Order: sequence, then C-alpha cells, then structure tokens
Amino acid sequence: MTKTIAVVGSCMIDSIVYSSRLPKPGETLLGSKYEQGFGGKGANQCVTAARLGASTIFITSLGSDKIGQSYLEKLKQENIDISYAKIQNNSHTGVAQIIVTETGENSIVIVQGSNALLSVKDVIDARQKIQSASVLLCQFETSLEPILEALTIYQGHGTSIVNGAPAVSNVDPNIFKLSDIFCVNETEAEIMTGIQCITISNAQKAIDKLFSLGCNTVIITFGAEGAVHATQNNKKLVHTSTEILKAVDTTGAGDAFLGALAYYITYHSNLSLEECIRRSNRIAAQSVLKAGTQTSLPYRKDLPIELF
Ligand code: RIB
Ligand code: NA
Repeated sequence: MTKTIAVVGSCMIDSIVYSSRLPKPGETLLGSKYEQGFGGKGANQCVTAARLGASTIFITSLGSDKIGQSYLEKLKQENIDISYAKIQNNSHTGVAQIIVTETGENSIVIVQGSNALLSVKDVIDARQKIQSASVLLCQFETSLEPILEALTIYQGHGTSIVNGAPAVSNVDPNIFKLSDIFCVNETEAEIMTGIQCITISNAQKAIDKLFSLGCNTVIITFGAEGAVHATQNNKKLVHTSTEILKAVDTTGAGDAFLGALAYYITYHSNLSLEECIRRSNRIAAQSVLKAGTQTSLPYRKDLPIELF
C-alpha cells in the first residue's frame, strides 16, 4: 500500500502587501506591491509535502464563495486527495491579511471564516483515511475540537505532528499528550509557555515547560537560526543550524518546514529526526527566496538530489 500523509487543517486566501516596514498604530504607509494567493497553514503544509512527492489527503473546510471553489481546483492540481475537503454553506473562505517588509519579515492577521466550521463530524467521516496515514499533521488555525478528535482517533496508528500555530495560550492538554511531535516557532513558544524572549541559549527552559505540559518530542524553530529539538529519551536540546541566503519573503517558511518534516518522516523513515530536521530546514530556506506563500514552496524537481 502506498504511504500517505493526512493533513487536518486550514485554507486561507492570502492578501499580501509589501511595505518597507510595519506601520505603527494609527499610521498609514505606502506599500510597493499587492498580491493575492492561496495560503493557510494546513494547505501550505499539505502542498509542500505533495510537491516533495508525498501522497496526501487534506481534511479541510472551505467557504461557499468563488474562492472556495477555486481553492478546491487548486488543491486538485497539486495532486492532493480532496475527498474530505468540504464546502461549508453560508460562510466565507478564511482570509489572511499579510504585511511583508523589506527584510522579508511578515506579520499576519487571519479571520478563520469557514475554517472555524471544520467539525468533529468532518474528522470522523474521514476516520479511515486518517487512520491509514503514516503521518497525521495538524495546526491550530481551525477550531481545535476536530484537531483533538483527529489526534484521538489516530492514536496508535502512526506519527502525529502538531504545529501549534497560531499560538493559543490555553490548549486542551490532551492535544499535547496526543502529539508525537509538537512544533512551534520561537514567538509561538513564548505564548504557549509564558516564557519571554526565548532564544536558542535559553530554549531548554521552554522545551522543559512544553514537556511538563505533556508534549513528547518538541521542536522549536528559530527562522534563520535553524531549530532545536528534544525528545523524552534525550531531554537535552539539540540545535540544528541552517543557511539562509537573502530572505525575500518568509511567509510560509514554517509551513514548508512542517510539510517537509512530514514528508521525510513518512518516506525516509531510516533517517534520524535530526537529519529530517536538517533537510526540512533546507526546504524552508528555499521558500524564503521567493515572494508569496504557496508560490514559494519548492518542487522536488528543482531541489538538489541529496535531499532525497
Ligand atoms: O504560515 C503562513 C500562513 O499563515 C499564510 O499562508 C496565511 O494564510 C496564514 O495563515
Ligand atoms: Na515565501
């Protein structure tokens, strides 16, 4: 049987403005460029895995607007199984307002729209597909009840990866316990642990806090500085560095990392977690070289052979 990755998560339409810097409160800035594109953390991660060659199924919830329909088409073009991608009546597809600065930094406000309507039932309907996947990949951009349900029904079936993004400060502890790998970036780690100014040098504190919340393996990503991880068997963090040339647009880099991680764990199961992280860092680094979100996610054919 072919191995698959199941993603339970969000679709957003990204409305991106490019500007020299972020505006101050009350300030109006003149931007340089505007683009609209397909995004959403769930979709971005699923698309990354698919472009690396994974067989993927995406359980998601789209609006009854035109964008919902065109998003379905888009997912089909990416060779993603959309048999459990549902159009919700009377709701709009999720939207993300994104500002990207000259240094490639971004800030994002999202409105969940149809992503808030993803239900426990939607997940139960896809039960068999979820349970037969080698990896289950979830984020926090939908309502969290269906995420907990997916993790519950998946228990004992494979590796679950939870990306705690966007950060939520009081998560049902069962979500931590049921995730084999819990991954956040440094700012999300701050919100979820209550620890301020997390850097690589004090990341152990944040990791220990996440362990105490019930997490098993923890990964914290640090953008251009790579990632740290620790496991229940080896609680001392390991730092995996990365190399980033000039960042054009970091939007979606975290998603590229997670989609790649799911891919490597599924299709290169002989690799150590550290090596999976190292390669996922490289996939993420590719994505920051191009503008846009999904437009910047790399295809297998364009990547160096040693990554496969
Ligand atoms: O992680 C990047 C994504 O976050 C964007 O595509 C945007 O939709 C927001 O959800
Ligand atoms: Na990008």
